[in-house]
Amino acid sequence: MVRPYGKGHKKRKKGERYDKEEEEVEDEQVQEEKADSETEMRAQDGEEKTEEAKEMQLPGVEEGIPIVPSHQTGKKPGVIFVLEKASLEVAKVGKSYQILNSEEHANFLRRNKKNPADYRPDIIYQALLSILDSPLNKAGRLRAVYVKTDKGVLFEVKPHVRIPRTYKRFAGIMLQLLQKLSITAVGNREKLLRVIKNPVTQYLPLNSRKIGFSHSSEKLVQMEKYVAGVGDDTDLVFVVGAMSHGKIECDYVDDFISVSEYPLSAAWCIARVCEAVSKKWRVL
Ligand SMILES: C[S@@+](CC[C@H](N)C(=O)[O-])C[C@H]1O[C@@H](n2cnc3c(N)ncnc32)[C@H](O)[C@@H]1O
Repeated sequence: MVRPYGKGHKKRKKGERYDKEEEEVEDEQVQEEKADSETEMRAQDGEEKTEEAKEMQLPGVEEGIPIVPSHQTGKKPGVIFVLEKASLEVAKVGKSYQILNSEEHANFLRRNKKNPADYRPDIIYQALLSILDSPLNKAGRLRAVYVKTDKGVLFEVKPHVRIPRTYKRFAGIMLQLLQKLSITAVGNREKLLRVIKNPVTQYLPLNSRKIGFSHSSEKLVQMEKYVAGVGDDTDLVFVVGAMSHGKIECDYVDDFISVSEYPLSAAWCIARVCEAVSKKWRVL
């Protein structure tokens, strides 16, 4: 079972404790972080365009909504992104809980025998911006985004979420999500982000083509040609890594491809994929 982060939960093993006082963090910064964790999360459309985020008091992790094959709904086919191994780890630094990152918490991480290079929540931030700001999403062809953290927590991001424009605010929202298990916009009970049960495969459409991405794949493709070869009524599931190094390991993909001779950032890989699919479906 997935637990929310925060006080009163499962004890960490010896050597994994992050909740000791961190002298370096000034009170001012702590206050800023606190304010940021209460900042906005709003839908891209609809009436509830509020600047304030409000999370619900949730009893526990929920079931996600399984997505039925598009031909059953009469909808056009769509895309789903699964972002694997996202670095989103919460720890108590000084007086407050924070999302760990290599820039601000390098000394803290080293003292706790962790490699700062592994703590890159900016990668998932950029990846989500790339997906949610894409013309493909604006055209209504994004069905869902699922994020799996490197600690195994799975959460769903609704396509109409407007991700905060600054990393600091994003980190505040992620902290709230991992502590309270969902984020809801004020004035609307719809959960825009929510932690759901593993495995992600139970939420993927039955008739979908599941494609994993890695620079190390021997199958180097020209993405536009590749998606052109997929049937017009097939939903596409793209599995991209949101970590700084290493390869995604997922046994549920039908194909593992490389889209460039060069190692790309997750955001650039996603942009390449979205552009290719936009061309196929004539989204301008
Ligand atoms: C920052 S990279 C991780 C680096 C890792 N060494 C790798 O290539 O898998 C983040 C993700 O972007 C995707 N990616 C990066 N370059 C790619 C390429 N040339 N082809 C396909 N996917 C790529 C992969 O899914 C990767 O996990």
